[in-house]
Amino acid sequence: MTTFVQSIRYEDRVLTILDQTRLPQEEHYEVIADLAQAVEAIKQLRVRGAPAISLFGGFVLVQEAYRFEAALPVYKQALLETSATLLATRPTAVNLRNVLNQLNPIIQDGTSVEEIRERLEKRTVALYDQDAQTSRQIGIHALELFQSGDRILTICNAGSIATAAYGTALAPFYIAKERGIELSVFASETRPLLQGARLTTWELQRAGIDVTLITDNMVAHTLKEKQIDAIIVGADRITRNGDTANKIGTFQLALLAQAFGIPFYVAAPLSTFDFSLVSGDAIEIEERDPQEVTTVQGVATAPEGVAVFNPAFDVTPHTLITGIITELGVITQPNEETIEQLTGLQPLG
Ligand code: MRU
Repeated sequence: MTTFVQSIRYEDRVLTILDQTRLPQEEHYEVIADLAQAVEAIKQLRVRGAPAISLFGGFVLVQEAYRFEAALPVYKQALLETSATLLATRPTAVNLRNVLNQLNPIIQDGTSVEEIRERLEKRTVALYDQDAQTSRQIGIHALELFQSGDRILTICNAGSIATAAYGTALAPFYIAKERGIELSVFASETRPLLQGARLTTWELQRAGIDVTLITDNMVAHTLKEKQIDAIIVGADRITRNGDTANKIGTFQLALLAQAFGIPFYVAAPLSTFDFSLVSGDAIEIEERDPQEVTTVQGVATAPEGVAVFNPAFDVTPHTLITGIITELGVITQPNEETIEQLTGLQPLG
């Protein structure tokens, strides 16, 4: 079995994260002491990736639940405000909202402070444990789509450090490794924050998985020259019709996959679906600090004052997606009907 680096640890009521902004130079762990530090950690991407953000948010709420002392009505109010503060940190990924939607009723319906604390903790620990199982199932289903010797391209980091373990888009590579199946990964570096270069190559290399780094503008050439067999990416929010928000640059990969006639897969747990949105047009795309584009790791790469557009995500239309790989199986040619068939989840409206 693979041993994973834990990007989020909750032990003896102490919450610790692996600071992902310092990788690969430094494997630094940070203890989270309060809400302000937690919010900053999410906004600065010290903890990142849709499932990891959601699990972290859950643990922060648990920690605050043990820290607050007040009479029940005031206590509930304060915790619900904490939940709302966490929800407002980053707008695109939906997983945190889906976790908080499970935790908020525990607060609302609680009959004592102690009961709320215990139930929040129990549920969040269960969600964390479940996430590792979910990711493993995604990996098993995804691996069925690949053959030994395949070369597969990915962007950003949808790996073990973006989840409790295994990751989503990277999960099949861990399962392949366990089973002795040879797959090669090509990682696109993912400007501006280099999650592909800094994180995906780091975690795959550690696990002994064959990985080759390219810059984002090398993708078309690489698809052609290295005969890439498929592209697989993670997701931050998938709407009712299968439109998928993921790291900026994903949409152009899907267009290239179509041009080259190779499959384009999205790997994501059911907690990444947002059935309240009809299509990707309704997804809010986070825009981030222009400095992320005008500098590389603190060094200026553009003249001061230049106009910058820095969306952190883009939306890939479902028509470009060959399949969405979930813990329940693969949704081939995703659309409202095929998604409903597999998930059994009833779209709103
Ligand atoms: O801005 P980030 O690094 O949080 O973006 C992460 C992604 O886009 C991932 O692909 C997505 O969250 C899935 S992680 C399993």
